[in-house]
Amino acid sequence: MSFKRYTVTSALPYANGPVHIGHLAGVYVPADIYVRYLRLRGADVLFVGGSDEHGVPITIKARQEGVTPQDVVDKYHALIRDSFARFGISFDVYSRTSSRIHHQTASEIFRTLYDKGLFLEKSSDQYFDPEVGQFLADRYITGTCPHCGNENAYGDQCEKCGTSLNATDLIQPRSTLSGATPVMKPTRHWYLPLDRYEPFLKEWILEGHKEWKTNVYGQCKSWLDNGLQPRAVTRDLDWGIPVPVEGAQGKVLYVWFDAPIGYISNTRELLPDTWEQYWKDPETRLVHFIGKDNIVFHCIIFPAILKMEGSYILPDNVPANEFLNLEGEKISTSRNWAVWLHEYLDDFPGKEDVLRYVLTANAPETKDNDYTWKDFQARNNNELVAIYGNFVNRAMVLTHKFFDGKLPSCGTLLPEDIAVLDELPGIRSRVEQALETFRFREALREAMNMARLGNKYLADTEPWKKFGSDPERVATILNISLQIAANMALLSEPFLPFTARKLSEMLRLGECSWEAIGSRDLLPYGHQLGTPELLFEKITDEQIDVQLQRLESIRAENVRNTFKAEPARPDVSYEDFSQMDMRVGTILKAEKVPKTSKLMRLLVDTGMDQRTIVSGISGFFTPEELVGRQVMVLVNLAPRIIKGIESRGMVLLASDAGGKLVLLSPEVPVKNGSVIS
Ligand code: MF3
Ligand code: ZN
Repeated sequence: MSFKRYTVTSALPYANGPVHIGHLAGVYVPADIYVRYLRLRGADVLFVGGSDEHGVPITIKARQEGVTPQDVVDKYHALIRDSFARFGISFDVYSRTSSRIHHQTASEIFRTLYDKGLFLEKSSDQYFDPEVGQFLADRYITGTCPHCGNENAYGDQCEKCGTSLNATDLIQPRSTLSGATPVMKPTRHWYLPLDRYEPFLKEWILEGHKEWKTNVYGQCKSWLDNGLQPRAVTRDLDWGIPVPVEGAQGKVLYVWFDAPIGYISNTRELLPDTWEQYWKDPETRLVHFIGKDNIVFHCIIFPAILKMEGSYILPDNVPANEFLNLEGEKISTSRNWAVWLHEYLDDFPGKEDVLRYVLTANAPETKDNDYTWKDFQARNNNELVAIYGNFVNRAMVLTHKFFDGKLPSCGTLLPEDIAVLDELPGIRSRVEQALETFRFREALREAMNMARLGNKYLADTEPWKKFGSDPERVATILNISLQIAANMALLSEPFLPFTARKLSEMLRLGECSWEAIGSRDLLPYGHQLGTPELLFEKITDEQIDVQLQRLESIRAENVRNTFKAEPARPDVSYEDFSQMDMRVGTILKAEKVPKTSKLMRLLVDTGMDQRTIVSGISGFFTPEELVGRQVMVLVNLAPRIIKGIESRGMVLLASDAGGKLVLLSPEVPVKNGSVIS
């Protein structure tokens, strides 16, 4: 806590889709916890956010929807901004990179570097669509992946096998704009000479910032060890900030050149007179909250730009997180595999803090993590409701019952009281320690320990049983419990701001400083409490099932969308075909083959005999579903021994999108042994 000022930024989300839980867990929730904490400590802090409105994905989205890129960003900027506000992400400014001031700021910085003669200007061959008369960004080119043969790989990566590609790697490239075969054409661009800044970056990061999170430090080290290359910071595109030099018609700044400058522009927009303090004073601590895919841009490229410019400070820390998965699968905007913030807020009104809690408790701080709805429900019901809410509610209700809602006096302390009260200051300092080193899960766990402590204290002391015999003792216990609850109201603010506020109001706590946490007399004797209200409520199985079913239907839709019929097999003659003896049969018995996961032993009436057939359908049907069914059987397949069982013939099945197996049955029942031809 030795900085004069803090500038805290959170990655500017692309305005081509809504914000989802992966963004929240990785970036916005930890950033918000951090700035709320700093504010409570009285720090001068500026929390900057905004939408990233340039780049190729936005132009693609616009084309898909038949609208302009500006329409796309207007729509999503508003949606994102409003859902962040509803969720309580406490930005001091949330602006956008299509703003005039941003165009100006980014152009100025580009121009400064240009005037200093720092850029390399180079011509290179790039794909060009001869029909549309336009250079093609990698995303605008599709073709066959050289690694897996996927015919719809993109020019930057194959989504089937996950390999990153160069557009020139694609076999049979096509322009997505016109379908035309692109041609190579030379084009001129400006390159950032990152290679020349490699010694500086090595010194600054590898020597100067060993305290960075290991995932961040490790990624930087591997980039730096591999050697940096000059990197183009302009593109041939008609959406973005025009390159501010002569003869650059049709060219714009690369989105990763302008986007981080958006942090500066947004600060300028908010503080036209004093913005420089937040960006140029070495006593300001600059911290970037980002996801792991943004590390190279924030730790290497943006600092290099700032360094080249010369008058800016560099980030002091970049606490990047790993990724959050959803129900075991990678979150994907294009595949609609996400929990969208605006939908969550509609589906779970008043439960902002539940999501904040779950995403922090489960934050992908050191490795990728999985979000599941069952875990969401369990953490709500077993932790927030059963511990936090239960403790506060009992203390409140008992005080109303026995003392008319006025804080009773604290009498003689017993050892058990002292033990509990003595814990409080330690909790505060452990939360501080964790927050200042960006360990948010641990900070939350510590904060939650205060609720655990209170809940256990009440359970151990059982004041509800003692009022008749020892009202003074009950007074002391409730006094202590309410002091703990008041401490919780203060301590929870960074993590659970809505709850902290509600609790504070319920206790009529009034203004208190963070430093007061740990105190055993936050509330004075005789203080009138407000009415008890539940802070959390149980989340039902039905609510969770609605969410799971929604995901299930998206999963099914994605499978259908990606299903492609297998390529045709070579022709066979009629003679060849007629050698196969296919008959209708009825399954008489079915049982799983022990110690196998897929195999089922069937007894089939083929009209000619009853025979055993071993079939790999176990995961798809139960024995009961099979018995009595008529099926198609290839009866003259040569017998085979499978797991020690002689299998004579084969039951024919269709395999649906996603590999699900389906029986082939006659339209109406027919005699067993009927020939199929
Ligand atoms: N839009 C980028 C993303 O979602 C993040 C940009 S962060 C910025 O990955 F500040 F550099 F804009
Ligand atoms: Zn591939």
